[in-house]
Amino acid sequence: MKNIAVCLSPEMIHLFDLKDKAVVVVDILRATSSMVTGLGHGLSAIKPVASLDECRELGKNGYITAAERGGEKVEGFDIGNSPFSYMAEELKGRKVGITTTNGTLAISKSLEADHILIGAFLNINAVADRLRTLDKDVVIHCAGWKGSVNLEDTLFAGALIEILGDQFELTTDDAVMAQSLYRAHKNNLLETVANSAHAKRLAKFGVIKDIEFCVKFDEFAIVPYLADGELIK
Ligand code: MLT
Repeated sequence: MKNIAVCLSPEMIHLFDLKDKAVVVVDILRATSSMVTGLGHGLSAIKPVASLDECRELGKNGYITAAERGGEKVEGFDIGNSPFSYMAEELKGRKVGITTTNGTLAISKSLEADHILIGAFLNINAVADRLRTLDKDVVIHCAGWKGSVNLEDTLFAGALIEILGDQFELTTDDAVMAQSLYRAHKNNLLETVANSAHAKRLAKFGVIKDIEFCVKFDEFAIVPYLADGELIK
């Protein structure tokens, strides 16, 4: 039986052998929620990059630029990291270059994996179906916050494990902990996530509706994946 484990922060990804594995990168607030939303609304591709300079360069080559640092849009870039910015009609068919505080870093630290999938509550059952089909050992890679563990990504990991049920084996405590956390809060998920450190940080910038949107299940049936350095569906 295949195994599923949870890397609670990119600071720990070196402890995992990603070869021949499927990695699900998750950054609920908000990078992977925005990526799923953008590709679900007709973006042709999203190119994740680590630095603001790389993102600027993409802007010179026809990409829409998206940059967030510390939860805020970076001046001089087209959009920030709200999923609502990715629903704009004028983005349909376009490519976006994106750099965020944690989400794009987690992707860059997952490159040894056979498959890199983008997960969010917004496409969680589509991700579960894909993992069943791939039939690979799975690592859920939580983006966290600046190296620390965060609540919302860990809750997603627990929810995905819960959905997959007994089709995957849990042999590490990180997976058992994530599942237990989700079971404890699944009936008040929005309230729980709204109480997380990053939701409170975002609330200080007046960002409330993003939180409500990012905890919705199955708004999209797509599973973005990394191919030749770009996320496509
Ligand atoms: C991140 O990369 O940590 C998040 O996406 C930040 C944000 O969008 O607020």
